[in-house]
Order: sequence, then structure tokens, then C-alpha cells
Amino acid sequence: MPEALSSSPRPRVLSGMRPTGKLHLGNYMGALANWVKLQNDGQYECYFFIADWHALTTDYADTSQVAPNTMEVMLDYLAAGLDPERSVLFLQSWVPQHSELFLALSMITSLSWLERVPSYKEQQENLVGRDLTTYGFLGYPLLQAADILIYQPQFVPVGQDQAAHVELTREVARRFNHFYKLDGAEVLPEPKVLLTPSPKLPGTDGRKMSKSYGNTILLADPEPVVRQKLKTMVTDPARIRRNDPGDPDKCPVGDLHKVFSSADTLAKVYEGCRTAGIGCIECKGWAADALVQILEPIQARRASFSEAQARDILEEGSDRACARAEETMQQVRAAMRMTAAGERGN
Ligand code: TRP
Ligand code: SF4
Repeated sequence: MPEALSSSPRPRVLSGMRPTGKLHLGNYMGALANWVKLQNDGQYECYFFIADWHALTTDYADTSQVAPNTMEVMLDYLAAGLDPERSVLFLQSWVPQHSELFLALSMITSLSWLERVPSYKEQQENLVGRDLTTYGFLGYPLLQAADILIYQPQFVPVGQDQAAHVELTREVARRFNHFYKLDGAEVLPEPKVLLTPSPKLPGTDGRKMSKSYGNTILLADPEPVVRQKLKTMVTDPARIRRNDPGDPDKCPVGDLHKVFSSADTLAKVYEGCRTAGIGCIECKGWAADALVQILEPIQARRASFSEAQARDILEEGSDRACARAEETMQQVRAAMRMTAAGERGN
């Protein structure tokens, strides 16, 4: 390992999200909460960013929402507890080194590697009505590889759905290191995936909570909205009438209880549901109570930041990220013998 090339003794972690708009509980439980934990552990040097260029790989025809969505995601990052004193929080497009490394890596990445990334075909099938036969869309995972490798991190905390992208990142790093070395040393360490343990989190329709299904509970949803969404949530289909017993293990509301409710409440849910001792309305009320309690500090923190403050934090973080990314790029350019520009002294 080229340990000498990294400047900090703490292992680095890097992760990011696309700016899809206000984040929901699925984003929180599947990623953000874990990032906050890693940050607060203090063992890692943390880099978290908003992948705005990635939004264009699918939304290139209408880019009007990218900037407002970026602000929403930044406010949600801060609301969840990401802290600019302890993490570098930045915006991908404000760190142009990402795109330079993306270009450099594109030289050594074969098309077949990109074509066989599972999300490539899946997304093309899912996002109907959009032409995704673009170079940028095929290159999505390579841009992600550049996002990662530019910080020479040891770990990438992501969910299972992103594991294939980290695997590609490792392959690309290996190929780079095979072709190019700097004074005999490898420049791009292969990062490891740090799988986020993510509990099953259903949306209001019982499917996995996801923006594309329109079944989310947002981190910014006020209490009445949370309660209303819970009211319309699907339940165990066996409980048609109030007197029919049900099974929380077959009910999406039961799944929410398992994630968010206290052991006492959970016991009441199991007992009451299986004996028809409680109604679903009451049970959903308890689930809403638990959600409101989780969301309360998040929303209080969100309210404590103005958009202007969030923007300043993002700018400062992006400056720090640029400085770190430029260190890597200097090594990359030197290893690739693309130093002519560097020698001009700019
Ligand atoms: N592809 C990731 C997602 O959809 C977002 C992302 C882009 C990312 N670049 C990254 C995640 C680098 C981790 C590291 O969630
Ligand atoms: Fe689901 Fe609760 Fe109704 Fe049981 S009582 S079916 S767990 S909502």
C-alpha cells in the first residue's frame, strides 16, 4: 500500500448521493445515518458530497432541478447531523478534478466493463421515456470511480445497491496501477466497500421506500403529513375487518415498528395485532409517534441553517476537497507523464 502518499494517519471514507430532492427516511436509514455515525466515531477522515454531475446522466434534458435539489440535499445532510467541523462536505461540480480524473480513467476502461455493470441495463429498462443510450449514462459508474479514487480513500460506505460500482472502481484502480506508477509506487489504492447495514424500510405502499415509487416519508415532512401518510399506509392484507387477527411480520407498518419503535411498543403491536386486540388505526398512530420522534431533532437542526449558510459550508468544503483532490491529480498526472501542463506552473 502506498501509505506514504496519503497525508493523514486516519483512514479516509468517501461517499455521496445524487441530488434527487428532499431526502427521505430510506436515504437516512440506508446511508446518511451511517455516515453521521462514522463521522462521530472520529476514527475516520470523512468526505461526503453531492453528486450533481451524476444527476445529469439521467436528467440531462431538463437540468432545472439540479441546483435547487442540491440545496435541499445539503440542508438534509446538515439536518441529519453531518458537521462541517468534522467532515468535508462538498459539491462534485465545484471540484473539477473529478472530471479530469474521469477523463484520464476513461482511457483505460473498456466498454465491456461498463456495459456489464448491472445498473446499466436495469436503469435503462426502468426509466422508460428517456433516451439513456448516451455516453454519459454508460460512463456513470466510471465517474463514480473517479469521485472515489480522487480522494484515495480506504473505505466507501454505501448500500448493497452500490457494491458493483465500488467493485468496478477497484478494477479501474488496479488497471491504472498496472499501467502507471510514481517512482515505483502505486498511486490509486483500491478502496473497500463498507456495507451499510440497512433494515428493510417499506414505503407507504409496502414496496421499498423510494422516490421513484412516490411512497416516501421525507425527513422534512411535518408531523401532520407524517400522520396522514401513515393513515394511508397498506397493512397486512389478512386484516380486512377490525376483528380479523393479523401478523406484524406480514405488514409494512409492522416493519416500521421493528425499525423505529421501542421494545415495549413492539410487544404491544405483536400481541394486539395477532389477537385483534388493537385496530390498525391505533397501531399506525404508534408508528407515527416513533417517526415523529426520530424526525424531531432532524427538523430542528434543519431549521437552524439558512440556505445562505448551507451554501457557504458547501463552498468551504469544496475548497478543501479541491486541495485534496489536486494532490491526487498531481500524482496521477505525473504517473501518466501528462505533466506538460503542470510544468507551466499554473
Ligand atoms: N451512485 C451513487 C448513488 O446513486 C451516488 C454516487 C456518486 C456515489 N458518486 C459516488 C456514492 C461515489 C459513493 C461514492 O447513490
Ligand atoms: Fe399492521 Fe399494525 Fe394493523 Fe397489525 S395492527 S396489520 S401490524 S397496522
